[in-house]
Amino acid sequence: MSVKNICCIGAGYVGGPTCTVIADKCSDIKVTVVDINQRRIDEWNSDTLPIFEPGLEEIVKRNRGKNLFFSTDVTQAVLEADLIFISVNTPTKTFGMGKGRAPDLKYIESAARKIADTAKSAKIIVEKSTVPVKAAESISKILKHNSKCTGFQVLSNPEFLAEGTAIRDLLNPDRVLIGGDTSKEGQAAIRALSEVYERWVPKERVLTTNTWSSELSKLTANAFLAQRISSINAISAVCEATGADVSEVSYAIGKDSRIGDKFLRASIGFGGSCFQKDVLNLVYLCEALNLPEVAEYWHQVILMNNFQRRRFVNKIIKRLFGTITGKKITIYGFAFKKDTGDTRESSSIYITKYLLEEEARIVIYDPKVSEDQIRSDLSDCESFHSPSDFDRYVTICKDPYEAAKDSHALVICTEWDEFVTLDYERIYGLMEKPAFIFDGRLILKHEALRKIGFQVDVVGKDFS
Ligand code: UDX
Ligand code: UDX
Ligand code: ADP
Repeated sequence: MSVKNICCIGAGYVGGPTCTVIADKCSDIKVTVVDINQRRIDEWNSDTLPIFEPGLEEIVKRNRGKNLFFSTDVTQAVLEADLIFISVNTPTKTFGMGKGRAPDLKYIESAARKIADTAKSAKIIVEKSTVPVKAAESISKILKHNSKCTGFQVLSNPEFLAEGTAIRDLLNPDRVLIGGDTSKEGQAAIRALSEVYERWVPKERVLTTNTWSSELSKLTANAFLAQRISSINAISAVCEATGADVSEVSYAIGKDSRIGDKFLRASIGFGGSCFQKDVLNLVYLCEALNLPEVAEYWHQVILMNNFQRRRFVNKIIKRLFGTITGKKITIYGFAFKKDTGDTRESSSIYITKYLLEEEARIVIYDPKVSEDQIRSDLSDCESFHSPSDFDRYVTICKDPYEAAKDSHALVICTEWDEFVTLDYERIYGLMEKPAFIFDGRLILKHEALRKIGFQVDVVGKDFS
């Protein structure tokens, strides 16, 4: 069969960009992205898209209203579609069994139930959200027991795009992974989805596996990437204690082709919606499979990430003569990485909260993150005793120079390009003395800053 009509349930960071690129590359396929969140859909239909991704707006505008539609009419889109992506959120459970580790599958289940209740003919269902191994089986069971139709095929097609480079990753993926049933019908469904991707992805990059290998590969890929960051961050602590420089170490080991040079940037710890969630997911899976040693091995990746954030703040406190109470500290960057407005699990949130525990006064500047978002991310800060405490302790600035005024320390939390080219002579002039800079992303020119007069501290190298 050839796919003519695609519905995507969930208009978020994954569903939105993915379907936009599919619509762009397949003008003969009608693509409808649906969501229960009316505001989100309105934003997708407006001039201000709900997410910021370089290159996204242009492609949306080029295709919207032609073969790309955003709607809240889930029923109609499901009825029309022959292939349905499920791209809903799968946050970590905050209560009950598996609290803090297991993914909450209620959104996936409700999407599957919606399809079962609505569909009048068999469809190919594709899980795009990161889900635990065997989730496809649960979706199949829900469809089997609740739908009047038979013959649904459930595929796993995890998305590997990274935020900030989503469009580039979608247009030129390292690989597309499709897992499905080994039966004839399963293979036919895999073929149908492969043909969609093969319009722009070279055939040899479309990998097909069984369903569970595909589901596990997604978790494993994210766990390996997160593990590399925790590994280099662990080494950064050794560097600071010994006089080695983590950038030199990264460079030296990255030259070994068996290791490779990517994902070896020491930092204040990884953030983002995927790494922590997926590693914890894997940990939970291993526990459920009665493999406690394996679970513990992967859990260390998270513990090291938490340690790195805490260690960085401890260093700030130590350098500022052991106390930051009442001192003004400027945070540059609140997004979890550059080129995105997303703050989910951003290390900036943790670092800001730790600094607030010490009753520092915090000023935040980020080129893309909105004030509302920062307020919401810090709203559960335990050191706030009343709603007015936010305004008492935190200021959000729209200008980096204003943010640095009268500050004791600048803390680089996100690697935004614009932070590299700021006028640091001017910033130095605006700050309290001694003026401290803590480069948590290793992006600044440290010797030049020292010449200006700054006290410089970075992750993975001790200047003192
Ligand atoms: C290693 C390093 O590769 C080398 O750079 C360093 O100088 C010395 O240590 P060596 O111990 O000779 O070299 O062999 P290597 O090929 O690295 O294998 C080490 C062990 O890992 C072997 O038992 C090998 O069978 C095992 N291995 C290697 C795996 O189990 N899986 C792999 O994917 C690779
Ligand atoms: C990640 C995976 O890269 C992607 O394949 C998957 O589909 C979703 O999860 P994303 O979270 O968008 O993507 O961003 P990524 O570039 O992987 O960065 C994650 C975090 O790790 C960021 O906070 C980043 O700053 C940090 N990081 C990354 C480092 O600290 N050091 C590095 O060397 C690389
Ligand atoms: P991701 O980063 O995985 O794309 P997001 O949170 O950005 O996750 O997006 C998931 C979207 O899925 C949200 O906009 C949410 O409203 C939507 N969603 C969740 N459950 C359903 C459902 N049953 N039907 C339609 N949309 C849903």
